[in-house]
Amino acid sequence: MTIQNSPTRPRAATGKLGVLLPGLGAVSTTFVAGIHNILKGTSLPVGSLTQMGTIRLGKRTEGRVPLIREFVPLTGLEDLEFGSWDLHGENAYQVVKRSGVLKPEHVDPIREKLEALVPMKAVFDRQWVKRLSGDHVKTGKTKYDLAQQLIEDIQEFKIAKGCERLVAVWCGSTEVHIDIQDVHLDPERFVMGLKENHEAISPAMIYAYAHLMCDVPYANGAPNLALDTPALTKLAKQRGVPICGKDFKTGQTLMKTILAPGLKARAIGLAGWYSTNILGNRDGEVLDDPGSFKSKEVSKLSVLDGILDPKRYPELYGNYHHKVRIDYYPPRGDNKEGWDNIDIFGWMNYPMQIKINFLCRDSILAAPVVLDLALLLDLASRTDYFGIQEWLSFYFKSPQAKAGLYPEHDLFIQKTKFKNTLRHMMGEELITHLGRDYYENDEE
Ligand SMILES: NC(=O)c1ccc[n+]([C@@H]2O[C@H](COP(=O)([O-])OP(=O)(O)OC[C@H]3O[C@@H](n4cnc5c(N)ncnc54)[C@H](O)[C@@H]3O)[C@@H](O)[C@H]2O)c1
Repeated sequence: MTIQNSPTRPRAATGKLGVLLPGLGAVSTTFVAGIHNILKGTSLPVGSLTQMGTIRLGKRTEGRVPLIREFVPLTGLEDLEFGSWDLHGENAYQVVKRSGVLKPEHVDPIREKLEALVPMKAVFDRQWVKRLSGDHVKTGKTKYDLAQQLIEDIQEFKIAKGCERLVAVWCGSTEVHIDIQDVHLDPERFVMGLKENHEAISPAMIYAYAHLMCDVPYANGAPNLALDTPALTKLAKQRGVPICGKDFKTGQTLMKTILAPGLKARAIGLAGWYSTNILGNRDGEVLDDPGSFKSKEVSKLSVLDGILDPKRYPELYGNYHHKVRIDYYPPRGDNKEGWDNIDIFGWMNYPMQIKINFLCRDSILAAPVVLDLALLLDLASRTDYFGIQEWLSFYFKSPQAKAGLYPEHDLFIQKTKFKNTLRHMMGEELITHLGRDYYENDEE
C-alpha cells in the first residue's frame, strides 16, 4: 500500500534550538548534564529513541533501517541552548550536587556549563505546591502581568542565546489536583481569568499560556492540569503550535504499559494490581502532600483501564482491584523503588501471581524523555503540525487525546503510531506488518 505523501515535509533544522525548562530540579539538570557529557564523549544517550533508535523503511528485504536521527531532520545536540525558571535561585551545578543523581565524574568536568545555567525568577504560588517555598519569584498585580513577564523572559532568552527556534518542557513540581472549571473552557475566558486573578488558574497554566503566546511548542511532564484545559488546547490550535502531555512515562507506569498489553494479548485475566513506590527526592516530598499526590494518582490509575478495556472484556478485566501508593522515604533519594503485586488468572480461573521489584532511577529514566520531546516537538513544528500531538503519547502516563477520542496507553500501539507518523512525515510507506506469504507464491 502506498500512502499519500504528507502535505508538508519538515523544514531543515538550521541554527540553534533553545530548550526552555520551567522547573530546574533533578530531571532538568540530569537532562542538561547528560547532554554536556554526550557532547564531550563521556556518555551515551541511552533511553533516547531519537538518538539510539532505528526505523525500518520499506519491505524487510530492502534492508533499509536508518537511525531515526538520520531519517528525520532533528536538531543536533550541539545546537541546543538551555533556559529555565525556578523559585530557588540555585544554578544547575548546585541543583545537581544537591539532588545526588549523578556521580562527580559526570558533573565536575562540566561544572562551568552547569553554573552558567541560572534560573529566571519563577511564577509561583504556594497554594499550588504546598511543600515548597522560595524567594526567587516574580511579583505582579495580576496573573496576566505575570504571564507578560514570562513572555518577556522568553523573547529575551531567544535573542540573548541567538536561537532560531524554541521549545519548552515543563519539569516543575506537580501541582494540586483541580477539576476543569468554566474559566478553563476557552481562551477568551482564560485571558479574562488571568486579568481577574481567577483562583483556578495555576502557575503551570500561566507558563503554558505564555509559551503558546510566543508560539513555542510545549510539553507537560507533570500530571497536573495545564495544557489539557480546553482553553489552552484551543489556543495551541488557533496559534498553530504543537503541544503534548502529560506526566512523563518512566518507572512503574512504563512497566505497567509494557506488561498489561502482554497479558491482554494472551487473554489472561486480572484480579488485582497493587503498586507501591518509595522515593526520597524533592518530587517525593512534593507528592507527600495529598493535593499533589491526587494529581499523580489520577494519572497513574488511568493506565490499566485504558489498556484492558474492562467494558469489552468483563470476564477478564471487569472486576480487578487497582491500587497505587507513593511513600516519601528520604534515605532512598532519587533511586526510587517500586513494587508491584499482580494477581492474574488463567485457564479455568486458576490464580497466579507476578511480582516486580523495580529499583529504578527516576531522573535517569526521565532525562531522555525530555530530550526526545524537545527534539520531536521542534520537528513537529517544522512540519506545520499543531495542536495535540497524539503520536507522542509514547512518552506519557496520561496522554492527551483529541476531544471525543480515548487516549492510547498501550506502549506497543503507541510505538507503531510514533514510527508510522515519522514515515508519513517523510513520505515513506506505512508498515502494517501484513505478510502475504499465505496467498502469494514467491516463486512465480
Ligand atoms: N523523574 C521522573 O521519572 C518523573 C516522571 C514523571 C513525571 N515527573 C514529574 O516531573 C517533574 C520534575 O521532577 P523532578 O524529579 O525534577 O522534581 P524536582 O522537585 O527535583 O524539581 C522540580 C522543580 O520545579 C520547581 N518548581 C516548582 N514549581 C515551580 C514553578 N511554578 N515555576 C518554576 N519552578 C517551579 C521546584 O522548585 C523544583 O526545583 C515533577 O512534576 C514530577 O512529578 C517526573
